[in-house]
Amino acid sequence: MPVSLSIACLSQKGGVGKSTLSRLIARTYAAAEWRVKIADFNPKQKTSVDWVALRLEQGVTPEIAAEAFNSVKTALKQDYDLMVFDGRPDSEPTTLEIAKEADLIVLPSGVSLDDMKPQVLFAHELRARGIDAKKIMFVINKTADSQVAIADAHRYLSDAGYKVAKNDLPMKTGYQIAQNSGRAVSETGFPTLNERAEALAGEIVARATELTGE
Ligand SMILES: Nc1ncnc2c1ncn2[C@@H]1O[C@H](COP(=O)(O)OP(=O)(O)O)[C@@H](O)[C@H]1O
Ligand SMILES: [Mg+2]
Repeated sequence: MPVSLSIACLSQKGGVGKSTLSRLIARTYAAAEWRVKIADFNPKQKTSVDWVALRLEQGVTPEIAAEAFNSVKTALKQDYDLMVFDGRPDSEPTTLEIAKEADLIVLPSGVSLDDMKPQVLFAHELRARGIDAKKIMFVINKTADSQVAIADAHRYLSDAGYKVAKNDLPMKTGYQIAQNSGRAVSETGFPTLNERAEALAGEIVARATELTGE
């Protein structure tokens, strides 16, 4: 059976949260008994493949699979319920192919204009290449305490014509530490951090369900 749902985390820039969100999404579905694989398209760094190896080593459940891929078609032929595409920042043709095949595209961005502007241009570029704007969802990541800055970022991204997740992900050392031990940002040692990550994950799942019925 080929993959029944695919969700991609994409950006042109590195460091915005593609891998972080890929793992959160993968963990969320795996916890609901889906068979999940992260397709890691960053073959030089293989951060999600390494993270899954660490997860196994640490005995963290639910189990999640990961593999490095070059080909989107090959990834989609695999027998998993969900394939999460952890995108590659520097390959335009691959990124476009992932965007075309994915049921939902998650675009992480920081709150600064320096982060948002290129990510909005990237989203516009995807639309210019035939990707339906409905498939695109922005997630604001690495927020600080300023509610004003977060509200401004929401407005900027919505005004650009995109759906923005209501829940942002704050910049927290606890998230960093969790990921360093093979855990997702919803699996930290801190219930409040887990709740925030789960709220965001819930929105992403709801959107995927809305778009596909899966
Ligand atoms: N909300 C956050 N809080 C703390 N650290 C974060 C957060 N989001 C991402 N990071 C960290 O920032 C770095 C880059 O994030 P990552 O998800 O790997 O980005 P990308 O895959 O887009 O390059 C990683 O070290 C990651 O652990
Ligand atoms: Mg990455």
